[in-house]
Amino acid sequence: MTDSPLLKSEDLIEPPVLRAMRRSVVGLLERRPGDARARVQLVRLHRALGDLEAAQEACTEYLRLHGANDEIRRFKYFLDEEPGAGSRVGIAGPAPFVRLANVLSPADQAAVWSLLEGASGALAPATVRWHGGEGVIGEIRHSLRMTCPERALDRLLPALRTAIEGRGLPEAFGLARPPSGSVESEVVCHMEGGHFGRHSDNAYGDSGRLLTCVYYLHRKPARFTGGDLLLHDAQSPEGPRSPIAFTRFAPDDNTALIFPADVGHEVTGVRSGVNDPLEGRVSINIWFHGPRVPDAAPS
Ligand SMILES: [Fe+2]
Repeated sequence: MTDSPLLKSEDLIEPPVLRAMRRSVVGLLERRPGDARARVQLVRLHRALGDLEAAQEACTEYLRLHGANDEIRRFKYFLDEEPGAGSRVGIAGPAPFVRLANVLSPADQAAVWSLLEGASGALAPATVRWHGGEGVIGEIRHSLRMTCPERALDRLLPALRTAIEGRGLPEAFGLARPPSGSVESEVVCHMEGGHFGRHSDNAYGDSGRLLTCVYYLHRKPARFTGGDLLLHDAQSPEGPRSPIAFTRFAPDDNTALIFPADVGHEVTGVRSGVNDPLEGRVSINIWFHGPRVPDAAPS
């Protein structure tokens, strides 16, 4: 399938393409269950589709049949919520993450919603930063953003800090610097056509950001599709091992995703038939800083 002249590299993040590839790998494994490379590819496809339960089963099956493999072991540790063990397996492969469910109580989430509604007049086109500049470039980032209301942060931060401390982050992600206690935050709304191309939240190493935390919340039923976060793998010094080297996370309501701020990631295109930003894909992004606090808070 990857040899098709009609298939472009950007197609390799599209779920229908990935599902077709997965079907063909599953078929291959039915014929050749001992094919270790195909089973590695199956794990990659499951996680590229965000099917983490299937990925976990496929990892277990791989390790049972074929023994140790750094890429598989590393990812399984992250799925098993053992980020410290995962980060110690090699320097390349799946990026570390922690996923949290049921982050806020219904009462806290309702309070956060009403604070966001009250502040939504401040939403403005999101900017991107580059060396020496900052501006709105819709081809790279298309969304609305505003500073997160302090009282919304007051509701959210205790749960996130408990999760971070409980899991020994950021050290368990292999980051040597301790958090400073300083945070910056924003609310981001993606509507029809919204997206954010591949980037790092600490691209130039000067933002002070140590951990990125994305908290998702949306109205029910959701009136948008897409907006998945793709967390790209760290490449080995020899170059990419596979063009399909990322983990997909759907923006499920009341969940949070935490990962090292310098990891490459992107937000896939959003489809939505409504104009109200708070009816789209909404997230509160929080960056936990390391010891050095930056002068500015770039996007
Ligand atoms: Fe980002």
